[in-house]
Amino acid sequence: MPKKKIVALGGDGVGPEVMEVTCSILEQAQFDLEIAKPLCGVEAFKDRGNAFPEEARKLCEESDAILFGAAEGPSIAILVYLRWILDNYINLRPVKYYPGAYSPLKNPEGIDFLLIRENSEGLYPGREGDLRWLAQKISDYQDPFGRTLDFYGPGKFALRLITQRGTERIAKYAVELARQRKSQGFPGKVTCLTKANVLRQSCGLFRKTVEEEVRKEATLQSEHFHVDDAARRLIRFPKEFDVIVTSNMFGDILADEAAELVGGLGIAPSACLGGQKPYFEPVHGSAPDIAGQGIVNPTAMILSAKMMLDHLGMKDEALALEKAVAKTYEEGKYLPVDQGGKASTKDFAEALLRAIL
Ligand code: NAD
Ligand code: IPM
Ligand code: MN
Repeated sequence: MPKKKIVALGGDGVGPEVMEVTCSILEQAQFDLEIAKPLCGVEAFKDRGNAFPEEARKLCEESDAILFGAAEGPSIAILVYLRWILDNYINLRPVKYYPGAYSPLKNPEGIDFLLIRENSEGLYPGREGDLRWLAQKISDYQDPFGRTLDFYGPGKFALRLITQRGTERIAKYAVELARQRKSQGFPGKVTCLTKANVLRQSCGLFRKTVEEEVRKEATLQSEHFHVDDAARRLIRFPKEFDVIVTSNMFGDILADEAAELVGGLGIAPSACLGGQKPYFEPVHGSAPDIAGQGIVNPTAMILSAKMMLDHLGMKDEALALEKAVAKTYEEGKYLPVDQGGKASTKDFAEALLRAIL
């Protein structure tokens, strides 16, 4: 089998730091990958005035998968390309507890669910504008109080698009994942989260579409919660979830909350799938408050690489990487600062590599 071609794009802030150690682990473990590391992000921006030079984009087009660190300023251009231009409409954010990780819960053992965030529409990418302009364009629109928009005076609006096609494709993916997980011994349940009590039409369509798709698969259970209630349930009953599916911004917010259940943003990985080229990134951002200090926790990036290996069919390598993460946390000798440890990013990565070799 030819080597899989990977492109590593660090991006901004802590992105390059977590990327460097992750690539070093993949290389030193001698996984069968060809990893390209084109200049991108802040460095490329300083050098050429462009965070995403043509060479980097070309490498992405020719690759099997892309690893991405984080975007803060300049690298937003990379994120826009990876998410929306490549149309990666699935944002899969697993929430799994590894014993030894720093959870605020008394008994986090056994938390293991998947959060699927619709990644292509909803409130993203921001479609906003001037309220006065909109009021003129749709001057005959009346809100639930019978008021036209000019009643409200100057301001801004944001559009939230929930389409039939966009919802059906994410619902089908949630069903497929729940079906696969059921065959591995998970409950086989799809939990849909909306605010359909208020957004009756848009969230109503999301809920109805998901429920219809789940109903087609007789072996699966279907569940729905309002997203505010779900925010509470995540903390109170985290082990009752199996596969969660929700719209874009609810998923964004709940992913950070859910990450805390199992040790925080330093640990939470993600995969963006379904488009022209899959890409893998931590849930966290550029962490400007700790960037450049050598203390960022690279686990989220490493577990994102594990998701990439799985996606590429490199199951043994994926398992080896995950086992090394689990072992390093379980031993607890070299944990990063966010986990209550003292290890630098590099010390942690070296300990993890020793656990693989
Ligand atoms: P953030 O995720 O960057 O940081 C939130 C907090 O978590 C900070 O205190 C940070 O130090 C901590 N943290 C995050 N990752 C960590 C890690 N691996 N190890 C230890 N601590 C970690 O969120 P923010 O501060 O809201 O956003 C900063 C910037 O990142 C913003 O510009 C935002 O838009 C961007 N962002 C980008 C992405 C992405 O590229 N996918 C995701 C989220 C935020
Ligand atoms: C994420 C981030 C992004 C989002 C930002 C950086 C656009 O918070 O990936 O979770 O809101 O989706
Ligand atoms: Mn986010």
